[in-house]
Amino acid sequence: MPQVFSPRSDRRLRLALSIGAAMLLLILAVGFAYARSGAAWAVGKPAAQPIPFSHAVHAGGLGLDCRFCHAGVEQAAAAGMPTAETCLGCHSRVWTVTPQFAPLATALARGTPVEWSSVHRLPDHVRFHHAAHVRSGVTCQTCHGPVWEMPRTVKTETLSMGWCLDCHRDPASRQGPADQALARDPAGGPPPDRPFGLAARPVMHQGIEVSPLTRCSTCHR
Ligand code: HEC
Ligand code: HEC
Ligand code: HEC
Ligand code: HEC
Ligand code: HEC
Repeated sequence: MPQVFSPRSDRRLRLALSIGAAMLLLILAVGFAYARSGAAWAVGKPAAQPIPFSHAVHAGGLGLDCRFCHAGVEQAAAAGMPTAETCLGCHSRVWTVTPQFAPLATALARGTPVEWSSVHRLPDHVRFHHAAHVRSGVTCQTCHGPVWEMPRTVKTETLSMGWCLDCHRDPASRQGPADQALARDPAGGPPPDRPFGLAARPVMHQGIEVSPLTRCSTCHR
């Protein structure tokens, strides 16, 4: 039988196959590295906001306390966002003329909240509670970075499940004194609530006790 493929075409085929395999591995490796990197989680990317608000001016320069605008952090799951009235307390007197404040007037006239875009947003299947963390001595900076230096608010952490678990496996090293997460005016008061039942009876899995902080149901409904 005559030879259909020459030895040369056989070599070419082998070369093409190995280049193809190498390319595939490279694409997978790059894809994996990207998925694990901060960029895939929008770390460092500001969101489009209705008003170009600057934490550097207000929390840094003017030294306003975080709780002045995010009043829920010590009591509730959500930190809460400032209302138009909170801003107008000052901006009906200073910096009032510029058109960038129009969304405040609109919100006030309609009786709706100002529509700030989320920078940090967990999927619906995850639950998070600010008060439980802040009152356990975890500072805002641990999770949000140096917000008071930011002209535009950005994420400094991925907020991925791996990131949560990194701390939940060993929280003690990242907890400060319970009343000092907001040092300017220590929270004091009763110990932190366990809103999602952290203190419930231990769960055993294959004879091993699962720490309540790493148990799936602590963060997932
Ligand atoms: C004068 C009011 C004011 C003060 C004080 C203030 N913030 Fe904010 N904060 C805002 C506004 C308005 C936004 C929404 C616009 C933006 O993201 O920049 C915001 C957004 C944020 C976000 C992002 C929210 C999201 O949707 O993901 C974080 C985190 C945050 N602030 C943390 C802090 C911390 C920490 C402090 C104290 C160091 C602080 N803020 C002080 C008004 C304030
Ligand atoms: C305690 C008073 C006070 C409050 C409350 C306040 N501001 Fe301001 N804001 C100022 C002052 C003072 C300046 C001017 C700062 C400067 O020029 O150095 C300013 C500047 C600004 C500017 C323009 C300057 C810049 O560089 O960003 C914007 C926009 C602004 N504020 C938005 C807001 C919004 C939105 C809120 C409510 C979430 C708010 N401010 C709450 C006092 C306040
Ligand atoms: C343990 C980490 C952690 C700490 C500590 C923390 N945050 Fe957050 N913050 C988050 C996460 C995660 C979200 C997104 C929550 C969601 O989507 O349900 C968030 C969302 C926010 C938001 C926007 C949405 C909301 O909840 O209203 C603001 C504002 C905010 N944080 C401010 C603060 C301030 C101010 C402090 C300090 C007093 C603080 N955070 C401490 C992790 C943290
Ligand atoms: C820097 C450390 C740290 C990070 C990061 C962190 N946590 Fe926590 N978390 C804690 C501590 C400390 C507690 C409270 C432990 C206690 O009360 O004994 C806690 C408690 C909780 C609770 C239980 C609340 C209760 O008391 O029932 C939930 C739910 C939770 N965290 C969710 C999350 C999620 C979701 C993330 C990631 C988006 C996250 N945490 C990131 C330290 C952290
Ligand atoms: C400390 C909090 C925490 C604990 C404990 C936890 N998760 Fe998660 N999980 C998260 C967060 C935050 C996300 C969302 C990450 C994101 O933004 O996609 C997530 C996402 C997920 C997702 C969706 C993945 C995706 O790509 O969207 C699954 C599935 C999941 N978790 C399963 C589990 C299981 C199973 C356990 C128990 C072994 C567990 N989780 C324990 C915080 C937690």
